Amino acid sequence: MKFTAITAVAACASAVSAAPGGWSNMKAAPCPKSPFQFTSTYSVTATPDQVVNGTTPTGGLPGAIGHYELGLNSYTNTICYNITLIGFRGNYQSAALTATHLHEAAKGQSGPPRVAFPNPVGDEKYANSIGCMKGPFKTGLNGTDGVTDTGANFQVSQIEKNPAGFFVDVHSSLAVPGAVRGQIA
Ligand SMILES: *[C@@H]1O[C@H](CO)[C@@H](O)[C@H](O)[C@H]1NC(C)=O
Ligand SMILES: *[C@@H]1O[C@H](CO)[C@@H](O)[C@H](O)[C@H]1NC(C)=O
Ligand SMILES: *[C@@H]1O[C@H](CO)[C@@H](O)[C@H](O)[C@H]1NC(C)=O
Repeated sequence: MKFTAITAVAACASAVSAAPGGWSNMKAAPCPKSPFQFTSTYSVTATPDQVVNGTTPTGGLPGAIGHYELGLNSYTNTICYNITLIGFRGNYQSAALTATHLHEAAKGQSGPPRVAFPNPVGDEKYANSIGCMKGPFKTGLNGTDGVTDTGANFQVSQIEKNPAGFFVDVHSSLAVPGAVRGQIA
């Protein structure tokens, strides 16, 4: 075990030229890059003022904010997410599998969820959800035909083709149409 650990450190450190003065001059080694390759990334700030029900602004959950960091791989139909909520209150509430979503709709309009992310865990000060999901996606809601899940045929490449046509949000019992919302572009 000890040997493995030393080897791992040495492999990491080999990227940095050895300091002539000895170990005390060595800096922390740069470690390997992420094993995930993204075809695109998005950083979205979600706010209460962007929430609508239909086309009517609701005001969302005042004081709440969401940071949605997304990494997509359109070849493997994968979406990685790092979602942070600050000031979220109430309970998560949605008819879908979770209350934290990627929806398809332009700014100022409502639209069906395409991805249901695991809800952030934490408290009002800080709640976070990190991971990756790969299609086929399932939201737990059926579309207009009544039988096909709204995530069923979704491809993350659709976001890349039209980022303005998608948004992220989270729903609270205190703001059911949405606590915060952010358009991908
Ligand atoms: C998640 O995103 C936040 C910024 O919103 C950042 O501070 C944090 O380091 C990220 N976490 C990881 C594991 O990348
Ligand atoms: C959604 O459709 C499935 C069949 O694909 C069906 O079993 C389920 O009851 C439907 N759910 C609702 C809420 O209509
Ligand atoms: C959205 O607005 C409709 C009326 O247009 C209303 O019936 C519905 O309850 C509202 N939804 C929520 C979650 O408030």
